[in-house]
Amino acid sequence: MSGAEDYIDFAKPFSIYFNLLKGLSDTRKPSQRRLSNMKHMYFNDEAYNKMLDADDSLVYEFYELGTPENAGDIAFGTSIVYPGKVGNEYFMTKGHFHNVLDTAEVYICLQGQGFMLLENPEGDWKTEELRPGQAVYCAIRYAHRSINVGNEPLVTFFAFRGDAGHDYGTIEKKGYRKLIVEMEGTPSVVDNPNWK
Ligand code: NI
Repeated sequence: MSGAEDYIDFAKPFSIYFNLLKGLSDTRKPSQRRLSNMKHMYFNDEAYNKMLDADDSLVYEFYELGTPENAGDIAFGTSIVYPGKVGNEYFMTKGHFHNVLDTAEVYICLQGQGFMLLENPEGDWKTEELRPGQAVYCAIRYAHRSINVGNEPLVTFFAFRGDAGHDYGTIEKKGYRKLIVEMEGTPSVVDNPNWK
């Protein structure tokens, strides 16, 4: 596929296929985030480094279709978080705020089992369950992170305002207030010891 073929003209109607089980498109290439792209995202650096030494696993992938940054356009695609853990912390996306903080986002879970972890700058936080058929509304001002607590890929479809933008830096610097980790075989919400 050439770069030129990758361009989608959002000013014209179009359609795109996503596999409902695997989440992948047959015509587009997803962006990938491997373990090496997730430095300091997991609270247990020692477990992270040990795991990375063994294998640079694919943690998640998602589609960026090149949506123009216009308020009237809609960015959409699928996200696939693979099963796994760093220590007892489940594989997850980095999580982000929107640059335009007052923009919401909708996710619908297509496959797998997990949670959306949400928190706003004022300190309010919430978890929402992700299971097939469950739609999650990420309200304005809430950072959102998908976490796979199951044994199969966690596949979601998302849509948000084209000009919302992504602020990954705040989470990279501060971390999330809460984490979802496995405790006695069960996903549990705990305080992040590294939160700044
Ligand atoms: Ni978002």
